[in-house]
Amino acid sequence: MAALPSFPPGFLWGVSTAAYQIEGAVREDGRGPSIWDTFSHTPGRVRDGDTGDVACDHYHRWAQDVELLAELGVSAYRFSIAWPRVQPAGAGPVNGAGLDFYDRLVDALLARGIAPVPTLFHWDLPQALEDAGGWLSRETSYRFADYAAVVADRIGDRISRWITLNEPVVHMAQGYAFGTHAPGRTLLMDALPVAHHQLLGHGLAMRALRTRGGAEVMITNNCTPVRAAGDDLAAAEVYDAFHNRLFLDPVLRGEYPPFAADADFVRDGDMEVIATPMDALGLNYYNPTLVKAAPEGSPLPFETVDIEGVPRTAFGWPVVPDGLRELLVGLRERYAGLLPPVYITENGCSTAGPVHDADRIDYLDGHLRALHAAIEAGVDVRGYFVWSLLDNFEWAEGYSQRFGLVHVDYETQRRTPRDSFAWFRAVLAGQR
Ligand code: FCB
Repeated sequence: MAALPSFPPGFLWGVSTAAYQIEGAVREDGRGPSIWDTFSHTPGRVRDGDTGDVACDHYHRWAQDVELLAELGVSAYRFSIAWPRVQPAGAGPVNGAGLDFYDRLVDALLARGIAPVPTLFHWDLPQALEDAGGWLSRETSYRFADYAAVVADRIGDRISRWITLNEPVVHMAQGYAFGTHAPGRTLLMDALPVAHHQLLGHGLAMRALRTRGGAEVMITNNCTPVRAAGDDLAAAEVYDAFHNRLFLDPVLRGEYPPFAADADFVRDGDMEVIATPMDALGLNYYNPTLVKAAPEGSPLPFETVDIEGVPRTAFGWPVVPDGLRELLVGLRERYAGLLPPVYITENGCSTAGPVHDADRIDYLDGHLRALHAAIEAGVDVRGYFVWSLLDNFEWAEGYSQRFGLVHVDYETQRRTPRDSFAWFRAVLAGQR
């Protein structure tokens, strides 16, 4: 395989994980229940009845996992902080033992020259907040900012980059519109306030973090280049507005796309908070989306269609590396000077084999070349994080999808670096 082109000096190279997907230890050291505990313990919600009770046991094996990161040679590690470890009821009393865990992790990373990049919310809302309305309630936005302040007061002196929310579109759509993720609501279009309250929480949290130091703060959005099947341009535009613009226009332009403008849940002053200038933008990219018009009587204004003629991951997701370049160049055209520097905060694929994963190497190599092409085309990209360090709990798919550079045997918790781990280590060494 030809060597990758050189990325800009200072480019951040990392891997990503999320708390509920790897930590386990859900009832230890004062952690409160989250919506994912409730959801995964509800029969029929997660494939094979899997739960995150043990996951990768990272809560106990974190030191070993930090050694893996050091061996890999990454310059940054993106992980998420479990809100229910820090505030078991989502508000009020702070659990010192929960903060201690992240405090130790941050110190261990820094001792190995790895920059910690914490995400404050990767979907594991404290159950007590869900019982009070979850993200349908505006109160949750304020509780999120309080929680952000608590975390920053403890570890903010050692953090240079924060991520507020992970993929609010996926949390809204799967969690509240279609019910395939926690909390399992099926509100369809009535889930829209969840978008606004997450974005308001992001803006309020940004302000709380800003007053606590000079770190970069960003949101991480899941974005997809949208392609029209045939000449269904209107349906593609509608999909683009829901998936991409609903979460980018407010933070970058201070306004909602027309379909969501004038909603009654938007109050005076909210848009200014949401559009608090960001230092950077996190983007998770997996694949493009092909869209056609919805059939008569559909509750949704679009329908997604399979992309044919391309390889697929073990998950069945289409592999279209150039979609990453298309996405980035498209966003720069759309937002021009309003687009801040970008970090690719997730990109990767699930594979079937235990250790030999030539397909993952192909996937990552192709996406890095597309990313480099976007940089050459003038997009300011500052870093790239592979999803994921370890195989882990893949939400509704349980342990059936394996995204790790490192294979995890869930019986023994043995970690075995895959071929892609050695490949990525060589890529990183080559970029130094
Ligand atoms: C993203 C999620 C991440 C992981 C990958 C495969 O949508 O942010 O937690 O599940 O997909």
